[in-house]
Amino acid sequence: MRFEDMAAVVTGGGNGIGRACCVRFASEGAAVVVADRDVTGADATVAQIVAAGGRAVACSLDATSRIDNDAMAQLCVDTYGRLDHVVTAAGVSHAKYTGDAEEEAKRLIERVGYREQPHLEVLDYDVDEFRTVVDINLIGSFLAAQACAARMVEGIEAGKQSGGSIVTIASIAAKHPDAGPLAYVCSKSAVWMMTKKLARMLAKAGIRVNAIGPGFIDTNMTQVIEMFPPEILEPFMAQIPMGRKGQPEDIAAAAAFLCSNDASYMTGEILHPDGGYFTE
Ligand SMILES: NC(=O)c1ccc[n+]([C@@H]2O[C@H](COP(=O)([O-])OP(=O)(O)OC[C@H]3O[C@@H](n4cnc5c(N)ncnc54)[C@H](O)[C@@H]3O)[C@@H](O)[C@H]2O)c1
Repeated sequence: MRFEDMAAVVTGGGNGIGRACCVRFASEGAAVVVADRDVTGADATVAQIVAAGGRAVACSLDATSRIDNDAMAQLCVDTYGRLDHVVTAAGVSHAKYTGDAEEEAKRLIERVGYREQPHLEVLDYDVDEFRTVVDINLIGSFLAAQACAARMVEGIEAGKQSGGSIVTIASIAAKHPDAGPLAYVCSKSAVWMMTKKLARMLAKAGIRVNAIGPGFIDTNMTQVIEMFPPEILEPFMAQIPMGRKGQPEDIAAAAAFLCSNDASYMTGEILHPDGGYFTE
């Protein structure tokens, strides 16, 4: 119960890693704002938490909107009287990502030529792909961090809380160019640099900022991997020394650690729950 009497905000809380973070924080005593553009998913997360005896409220969020991020942070303070932690898990792997595995499989088949001749993808690249992915993954993470940091500073100045914690969800793609598509890897490396910069800028205000760089985790985003033909699947899985995907709960455990007092001297750090991917 490391978060008793505290309140946390999680973006992307309607599915996958974000949902697991919501459930974990609630199980450790936090009241949780579950924010997502998928309101049905957010409602389902809230129902799961409430059924287990926890406190949570859903919030409709377009991660790219400053107004929505501000309303999300304010909802936390209005509902629970404080805002201690935020996890920024809202994200997409590409501009048209919806989380539907069949659509992802179709997209991969359409793009199979780029596998053989990656230079063609560079020549064909639609710059709007970059804009959308960076807008959601990078700017969305910043807007959530900014809106929540403002409430943390108010809480600290009012003596309601001793500090605050921000956890961004980057990726192994923050450091490895082959761990995702072009715009995705760029957006995630920028999330990692933003995390380090914010850690330095917010340290004296009493706010710690850390990142998690998950490996391949079993969520909607990676369902398509199971549809790979064996000649692609086998070398793909061979990149992971543990030989399997991680679970969203593995990432939630890392997020809970980073927000807890157990990590009170950690800021500007990235943790890689990745089954050993980065041991190469
Ligand atoms: N699954 C993995 O292997 C993996 C690995 C590394 C990093 N990540 C990152 O973890 C985060 C969560 O992904 P996931 O794997 O749980 O996938 P997911 O699809 O299950 O969850 C992503 C969530 O983000 C929400 N979202 C997307 N765009 C949004 C927007 N504009 N506004 C508000 N909400 C939005 C979706 O509705 C969804 O609920 C992402 O940032 C992803 O890049 C995932």
